[in-house]
Amino acid sequence: MRIDVFTLFPGWFDWFTTQRHVKNALDLGHELNLVDLRAATPLKAGQVDDTPYGGGAGMVLRVDVVEAALEARYGEAPAPHRTVALSPGGRQFDDALGRELAGESALTLLCGRYEGFDERVNEHLATDVVSIGPYVLSGGELAAMVVADAVIRQLPGALGHEDSAVEESFSEALEGAPEYPHYTRPFEWRGHEVPDVLLSGDHARIRQWRLEESRRRRRS
Ligand code: 6GU
Repeated sequence: MRIDVFTLFPGWFDWFTTQRHVKNALDLGHELNLVDLRAATPLKAGQVDDTPYGGGAGMVLRVDVVEAALEARYGEAPAPHRTVALSPGGRQFDDALGRELAGESALTLLCGRYEGFDERVNEHLATDVVSIGPYVLSGGELAAMVVADAVIRQLPGALGHEDSAVEESFSEALEGAPEYPHYTRPFEWRGHEVPDVLLSGDHARIRQWRLEESRRRRRS
């Protein structure tokens, strides 16, 4: 898979791209490319934003600037894959969307800054507008990392352990419910013991217990 992230702050991703599961995915041939929105701006002096029509605080990322950046990378035709604008007003990201995006061969993530994108970016240049939750961040970069992380860990080999992504929170194996609790040594810690069933060696019972715990967490 190839993920292209368009941002005014490519340096924010330096840390992310060196983390092990991301590096694993890159070593397997997947790509994570950072594209500087400023690099292809048609405006003078690297300008990318402007004051909002109608007045008000802050600056708005211009649609012609985002268009020029996309064209410089993909040519004049729209990119033949999902183009996700990260914006706090978008559809809330969830596991199902992460798995859907992981099934694409390429993905474009557009990070907004300032007051956000000119609305025409969302309407005409993006295929999806996505938020990572009901709060406002200073820009789309952290949201893009959240989306990229959720997508990358779905790619075969990224986790280094093939089963890890199968039976985890929200997966089909758990009927879409949050994950069951995990325990490891020590068996007893400050009077708190590990549930006996997990030491029973009875895999059918363990499986049943985990499913019930997982369902219980969905209800609470
Ligand atoms: Cl995608 N962007 C910003 N700026 N804030 C957010 C967000 C995105 N998702 C939640 N808050």
